[in-house]
Amino acid sequence: MSLTADTDVLKRAVGFSAVDRYVRSGTCLGLGTGTTARWAVARVAERVARGEEIVAVATSTATERQCRELGIPLVALGEREIDVAIDGADEVAADWSLTKGAGGALFREKAVALAARAFVVIVTPEKLVERLGAFPTPVEVVPFAAVTVACAVEAAHPGVRVRRRGGVAPFLTDNGNAILDCAFGPIDDPAALDAALRAIHGVVATGLFPSGLTSVVLVADANGTRELPEPH
Ligand code: 5RP
Repeated sequence: MSLTADTDVLKRAVGFSAVDRYVRSGTCLGLGTGTTARWAVARVAERVARGEEIVAVATSTATERQCRELGIPLVALGEREIDVAIDGADEVAADWSLTKGAGGALFREKAVALAARAFVVIVTPEKLVERLGAFPTPVEVVPFAAVTVACAVEAAHPGVRVRRRGGVAPFLTDNGNAILDCAFGPIDDPAALDAALRAIHGVVATGLFPSGLTSVVLVADANGTRELPEPH
């Protein structure tokens, strides 16, 4: 089996397992974005088809589309209390802080995670790191201010790149904003860096999720799916 096929099997396992462990009939569920979260969406669809009353808040137009295609009832953010949100991540640090946003859905993903009573992060083992920062941090910015924000960030941390779609036109998020991918290197204090970036006029959100937001980290590897022990 190829590495990609292998990883996809693990993504399916962890997505299915999260729904089986943390979702009951009656649950209002935040549904994440990406190639891992899409398996959780698929599992929720199976449960809805069996007659369970599950409703979802989608974290992107892509997830919203998948939910509609598979018959999962949707509610808007703020319409119902969210019992649990399930989402993938690009990096999970030892303290459970996260890098998210490779798919560009970071703003809505953070909004849903913040609103949820519990936030379950589903990953494959290569996402586990000691410290965040090997993966460039996505920063969502208002397009009008993209260059001034990029210059401000670059002055302190060289290695800022405007994300592009197909190499030419700037990538735009579901909110109509641009993304700067910032190569910070090892990040000592993700919450402080997140706050410093958000203090720059024009920054909407960053893909740095503080450690306190994560309730559970679920990891699938060749031995099965397991919850990580809480960091001390
Ligand atoms: C999208 C995200 C994703 O959750 C993150 O990029 C992980 O994606 P994948 O499961 O495809 O590796 O933050 O904005």
